[in-house]
Amino acid sequence: MNLDLYTQAMQRFQTLFVRAQSLDIPEPAAMSLATVTDTGQPCVRTVLLKAVDTRGFVFYTNKHSGKGTQLRHNPHAALCFFWQSLMEQVLVEGRVEDVSGAEADTYWATRARVSQIGAWASLQSESLSERAELEKRFAEFEKKFSGQPVPRPSYWSGFRLRPNMIEFWSSRPGRLHERERYSRHGDATWNHTWVYP
Ligand SMILES: Cc1cc2nc3c(=O)[nH]c(=O)nc-3n(C[C@H](O)[C@H](O)[C@H](O)COP(=O)(O)O)c2cc1C
Repeated sequence: MNLDLYTQAMQRFQTLFVRAQSLDIPEPAAMSLATVTDTGQPCVRTVLLKAVDTRGFVFYTNKHSGKGTQLRHNPHAALCFFWQSLMEQVLVEGRVEDVSGAEADTYWATRARVSQIGAWASLQSESLSERAELEKRFAEFEKKFSGQPVPRPSYWSGFRLRPNMIEFWSSRPGRLHERERYSRHGDATWNHTWVYP
């Protein structure tokens, strides 16, 4: 694989992400995640980037959720980061794969206990008749795991999006913004192109 261009793109993302994290802005790790249903309906929602390296972009979720079901049927997905303070956007397209159980366990252990119990209590994306039902489930799991570590539910884990396209958009005067696209062709080659804004 022409790793130079890919490595360059990932390093460029890391540099931007570090800059975004150094600013006093809410949720610099927030990204829009787009998936597609069986009928071809695109769906989008915000998730948090929890790890990134040359293998790709990792987020965690309930695998029984809407997005989890969609990704199980169709692993193609896209991400959009927008850091308003920087006026920079990064788009990523690719395929997701499961993170290993060991990797999910390591991240799970860093989560606050309330978030761990919340992951058991929330039947993410299923209908909820009233808020009290969620609170009742939370209290039940709090009791169930009282005095012991909260185990990671088998359905709660991470996806890693392996990019086949990364595009950087930078604001420039007169709406002559810069767009640079890095894209994978086949298994071995990455190309770099400029794109009209
Ligand atoms: C700032 C922010 C961060 C979020 N982070 C996550 C996340 O990392 N994982 C997750 O499953 N949901 C996260 N959510 C909730 C999702 O946007 C979404 O409501 C939920 O995952 C259910 O989506 P689905 O029904 O499409 O699966 C976040 C929401 C916001 C606003």
